[in-house]
Amino acid sequence: MDLSSVALILCPLLISVAGQAPVVSVEPRSATVRQGESVSFRCQVGSGAQPIRLEWRRGNNQALPENAKIGPDGSVLTLANARPGHQGQYRCVAANSAGRNAATAVLNVKHPPKVQMIPEGPLHVSIGESVSVECRATGRPRPTLTWKQITSNQQLVLTNMNNVNTLQLDDIRPEHAGLYLCLAENSEGVTQVSIEINVGGGPGAPMASVNPAEMTVVEGQTVTMECQATGSPTPVISWSKLRAPLPWKHTVVGGVLTLSDVGRQDSGQYICNATNIHGYSEAYTQMEVETPPYATCVPDQLKLKPGNSLQIQCLAHGSHPIQFTWSRVGRGNLPAGATTTKEGKLLMATVKAGDSGTYKCVATNQFGSSEVLVKVTVRA
Ligand SMILES: *[C@@H]1O[C@H](CO)[C@@H](O)[C@H](O)[C@H]1NC(C)=O
Repeated sequence: MDLSSVALILCPLLISVAGQAPVVSVEPRSATVRQGESVSFRCQVGSGAQPIRLEWRRGNNQALPENAKIGPDGSVLTLANARPGHQGQYRCVAANSAGRNAATAVLNVKHPPKVQMIPEGPLHVSIGESVSVECRATGRPRPTLTWKQITSNQQLVLTNMNNVNTLQLDDIRPEHAGLYLCLAENSEGVTQVSIEINVGGGPGAPMASVNPAEMTVVEGQTVTMECQATGSPTPVISWSKLRAPLPWKHTVVGGVLTLSDVGRQDSGQYICNATNIHGYSEAYTQMEVETPPYATCVPDQLKLKPGNSLQIQCLAHGSHPIQFTWSRVGRGNLPAGATTTKEGKLLMATVKAGDSGTYKCVATNQFGSSEVLVKVTVRA
């Protein structure tokens, strides 16, 4: 319905009402939720001449996120599945014939760190040179950073003051070669990026590099990694996986490693090794395999007597974060007195015969969802 035409029709009725612009406030004034959670803000009108029209906007005047829902009377704004991009101000504008007023709420979305390495690897450095690499992390709460060198398992811990953290290596020696990890950690998770530093030897020595240096793929995809090597005589290339054998569905043709139908267990670091008579050079690539959830319930069915308590745990494998939602098949709403937890539990302190039925747990992540049904029978 076109609201402006409503206002036009109603205006003549208002002439007798005192001309006061709406007094408006928003509850809560600020909210902090985790990524994936939902949040609601209520716009309250204290006084003002009716009719009052409510409108929600973002603080920057951009359109509301597509997952924003506004309640029937316009007062409640709900954002389901909050994302870091939804952070910021939300403004409720209340308008009547006498004028308009606005109140603002602030949304913070906690999320795991995102990390970027500058420059991106791999880096090729000659003996005696120096190199510096910056690890730039965002996240809420602000993440702390840790550096590790993988090849020797030596830990390099640097201090973090302002989310800019630089690894500096001077007078490079062969033992500096390897994979350096920057780990960014906050209460919501740990994210790592890696950079490979190659140290060049004498003339003719191999120098390997892998393309791409890191990748995120979804379960079931086919992945190719290309290793290029310089050196004389032409180096021989071999592929391996750090601390694990290569997946059995792999092929190597002309330095290109192909993995088909990848699974979660194939995540990890892959190493290309280029060897000739002058020595060898290792190049690394990091692959993360993301998976949709696969949910199960414990127990998978339940027979109870009236007065018993009920506890069902819904479990899911898959990429985090995973959200659990419980409902009752055919009725939607859970019985009064039923509670659920973020960790996927359905709880009832005492059950009665009317609570019999089929309960459904849906586990959802960014890549899909999975549901499980649990039959509950309550009989004396
Ligand atoms: C690469 O090849 C060299 C020489 O054959 C060997 O010493 C080294 O362990 C290999 N590295 C990996 C990761 O396989």
